[in-house]
Amino acid sequence: MATILLRNGEVGCGLGIYDGDILIEGGKIVKILDRGHRIKGDKEIDCKGKLILPGFIDAHVHFRGGKESYKEDFETGSAAAVSGGVTTVLDMPNNKPPILSKKDLEAKRKLVKGKSYCNYGFFIGFDGRNFEEISLSKNIAGVKVYMCDSTGEMGVGAKSVEDLFKNQKKIIVVHAEDGNCVSKNEKSYLAESLEGRKINPSIHSKIHSSKCASMAVKAVCELAKKSGKKVHIAHLSTECELEIVNKYRKAKVDVTCEVSPHHLVLSENDYEHLGNLIKINPPVRSNNDLFAMWKGIKFGDIDIIATDHAPHALVEKELDYVRASAGVPELETLLPILLNVVNDEGLTVAEVVKLCCENPAKIFGLKGKGQIEEGFDADIVVVDMEKVKDVRGADLFTKCKWSPYEGMSFKGWPVMTFVGGQIVFKDGKIVGKKVGREVEFGG
Ligand code: DOR
Ligand code: ZN
Repeated sequence: MATILLRNGEVGCGLGIYDGDILIEGGKIVKILDRGHRIKGDKEIDCKGKLILPGFIDAHVHFRGGKESYKEDFETGSAAAVSGGVTTVLDMPNNKPPILSKKDLEAKRKLVKGKSYCNYGFFIGFDGRNFEEISLSKNIAGVKVYMCDSTGEMGVGAKSVEDLFKNQKKIIVVHAEDGNCVSKNEKSYLAESLEGRKINPSIHSKIHSSKCASMAVKAVCELAKKSGKKVHIAHLSTECELEIVNKYRKAKVDVTCEVSPHHLVLSENDYEHLGNLIKINPPVRSNNDLFAMWKGIKFGDIDIIATDHAPHALVEKELDYVRASAGVPELETLLPILLNVVNDEGLTVAEVVKLCCENPAKIFGLKGKGQIEEGFDADIVVVDMEKVKDVRGADLFTKCKWSPYEGMSFKGWPVMTFVGGQIVFKDGKIVGKKVGREVEFGG
C-alpha cells in the first residue's frame, strides 16, 4: 500500500510537543520516527514550521439534513468540519424527523453513507417513552436528553429522565436546563416586555436563566449518583453548574462536562451588536461565568470542548426575538479560537489536544481516535500557528454562511486535514473525496 510521510513537523499530544515524522499507510499511523531516520514515503509532505495535531473530535454537532437540509446537511457540515480541522463529529438527534428508533437510525445511516468528508457517529434521542428502541440501537454515541424544549422541541419531564437512568447502560448526554423553570420565566418576562415594545434579545439570558441550568444539572447529577450511571453535561455555561459538577465528582459520581466555544468568547454584552444571531440554548452568560469557564478549563474541571455547531439560515435569525431560531455555527472557528489563545499563551497545545482529541475519544469510547500514536487512525490536522485570518461568513463551508465571529481576527489556522490517511482539505479548499466513515464505539 502507498505510504505518506509527514516530515519535519512538530507533533502535539496530551503531554506537549515533540519533533517527529509520521508515516501513514492504509489509513493508519504506522510509525512515528525520530528525525534522521532513513525511511522514505511514496508521497512526502514537508511540514516544516507546522504543528501536527490529532484530528479534532467534536462530540456535539447538528448536521440537520431531511427537512432542514436548506440550512445544513452532512455534505456541507462535514466540509465545514474538515476545513476546521475536525475529523470526527457526533451528530445530535433533534432532526426533522427526530432520531428516536432503530429504524430512524438505520435510515439516517443510509442517508449519510458516502456523503461525509469527516468520520461520524450518531446519538439517539429520548422522547420519554422509547426505552426499548434505545436498547435495540447499536453502535451509538449515547442517548441525548433535552430537559427543556430547544430546536426540535424534544424536552422531556423529570420523571421520565429518572426512568431512563434506571434503564440505561449507554452514556446519557443532557441538555441541562429545567423546562418548567424556563417556561415560567418565559411567561413572566415576555408578558412584561410585550407591553407595546420590541423585545430585546438579551431577555433570552434571563428566560434561560443560570438558575434553570443549575437546577437541571443538580437533578441529573443526583440521578447519576442514585443509579451509578454515567452522565455527560452538554454545553455547561455557568460557574454555578461547574461547582455542582465538581461537588458530585468529588463524591465519585461519574459525571463529565463540556463547554462550547461561544461560552468562552461571547457574553451578554454582545447582544447589543449581535442581537438574535447569538440567541442560543443555553444562552450566553455574564462575564463572570465566561471567566469561570476558562478557569474550569485551566483547572481540568471541564473535560471537553464541543462546538454545538447549530446552523440556522440567516433569515431565521433575522426574525423577531420570539420567532428567531436558537443556535450558532461553530465548526470552522473552533481551532482558530483555541489556537489564538495558545498563541497568547493562555492555553497550551497539550491542553487543547486533551480537551478536543484525547478526552472526547475516552469519554465516548472512540476506537483508534484522538491521538497520534502508532496503530491509531490517520485522522490528522496540520496547523499553521502563524497564519492570521479574519472570519468571513461568505468564505465558510457551512450552508448558513454566517458566523457570530464575523470580522474577528484569529492567529493559528488549520492548513491541511487528513481523514483516514487521505487529504481532504488543503489551503482553504476541499481537495479530497467524502471518505468519512461511521466510527465504532466501545474503544
Ligand atoms: O441553541 C441551540 N440550538 N440549542 C440547542 O439545544 C439546539 C440547537 C439547534 O439544534 O439548533
Ligand atoms: Zn446542541
